[in-house]
Amino acid sequence: MITDARAAIIAVAYLISAVLFIFGLKRLSSPATARHGNRIAILAMTIAVVATLLDRSITWKPLNIAIIVVGTVIGAALGVYFARTVQMTAMPQMVALFNGMGGGTAAFVSVAEFIRFSEEASSIGAGEALSVSAGTAIGALSLTGSLIAFGKLQELISGRPIRFPGMSALNAILFIVILALGAVVVGFDGGDLFVWLLLAVAMVLGVLVVLPIGGADMPVVIALLNSFTGIAAALTGFVVHNQILVVAGALVGASGGFLTVLMSHAMNRPLSNVLFGAFGAASSAGAKVGEAKPIRETTPEDAAVVMAYANEVIIVPGYGLAVAQAQHQIRELADELEKRGVTVKYAIHPVAGRMPGHMNVLLAEANVPYDQLFEMDQINNEFAHADVALVVGANDVVNPAARTDPSSPIYGMPILNVDQARTIIVLKRSMRPGFAGIENELFHDPKTVMLFGDAKESLTKLTNAVKAA
Ligand code: TAP
Repeated sequence: MITDARAAIIAVAYLISAVLFIFGLKRLSSPATARHGNRIAILAMTIAVVATLLDRSITWKPLNIAIIVVGTVIGAALGVYFARTVQMTAMPQMVALFNGMGGGTAAFVSVAEFIRFSEEASSIGAGEALSVSAGTAIGALSLTGSLIAFGKLQELISGRPIRFPGMSALNAILFIVILALGAVVVGFDGGDLFVWLLLAVAMVLGVLVVLPIGGADMPVVIALLNSFTGIAAALTGFVVHNQILVVAGALVGASGGFLTVLMSHAMNRPLSNVLFGAFGAASSAGAKVGEAKPIRETTPEDAAVVMAYANEVIIVPGYGLAVAQAQHQIRELADELEKRGVTVKYAIHPVAGRMPGHMNVLLAEANVPYDQLFEMDQINNEFAHADVALVVGANDVVNPAARTDPSSPIYGMPILNVDQARTIIVLKRSMRPGFAGIENELFHDPKTVMLFGDAKESLTKLTNAVKAA
């Protein structure tokens, strides 16, 4: 009777947790509600963890309690530390690392469950064996793939595509070996050795699949691996008969999948091109950086006068804004311009920065009003009427080559129509290229003026000059 009541409470708790996860995700879709969405998701996860601890399959022996408590404390302490100290620009690496841990956990729990079945000499059902095989393979691939992605973004290994002759053939062979090992585990109950082999081969494949992908495509790869981790977790949920793990894993799998598609779409590149196209290699081959073409340099005072007497200024934030941590300075400049009656809007490109929503999070930190933020499709026609487009540390997302140069690696990527504004003021430190490693004609446009320097310092100087104008 008590057991029934406990089972019912756990089932209801899981249901509430699943509904809260979905609400939380929904609220993450807008900067205005994202913080609230995060809190809902934290509550959902807490309910799920507590309910799982009540599960009768957890034997409450002192050693087990100690392992759970120590593991939770260490994990929570590391999580809080990294979440608080990580630089916004290093967020993709951190996501890669966390994601790898999730994939690895799913894989090892699958292996452990399989071993438990064989130790208890109970025969494993075909469905469970299938879940073990797929969960182990996908989780292991996600673990090592994410670690390589982390290494590339953290510059522990070269961010350039790394290939060797026969690599594709080797990957194909490893994939077939994984399928064969999976079939042995499912069809012949072949013992622990085959599950361990499956884990090892999938880990090798994870490394080999991500090595040839250029650093510039890593955010997309991380979203894809994130989706894999979700799928692996859902499969593990089937093995350990835990509904919330199935639901949460499916949500991660689906959202990671959508994100992958949306990012590829925003760069106008099919996923196959991201995975097999070696963008880093292509871009460096196509780069024409460093050609001596004329540019017009400006001073903070001159640029301030142009903005102070404008009707409308559209600000285009990019990765450099995040590097400089200049979100507060840009808000101060916008406030100063607004005091003078200038209309200020922000144009947000879907892949500006290094991760989805990067610019929104950054600007939200400085309390930039949400109604001043406009997505690319909403604002692109307005550049033609704007007096000034102020480009702050953005490069690829305003590169007209995406529209005009079929040989460019970013050709076809939708860009912000900054070049249609009456005057373009670009804030960056040098003539160095952006993420894609390619030349940007915008900087040589006769309507463009360059204000060189760190974005934070340049924006402070601009604000002071606007005050004085
Ligand atoms: P980028 O093209 O990377 O350009 C950033 C520019 O900021 C650089 O040219 C750099 O020039 C400048 N910069 C760096 N530090 C600065 C500082 N302290 N002060 C002033 N300027 C600074 O950035 P973007 O236009 O935002 O484009 C994003 C890129 O990431 C695209 O290629 C996109 O495809 C790629 N990507 C993004 C995502 C997501 S989801 N966001 C996903 C996949 C790929 P200097 O060095 O001369 O200063």
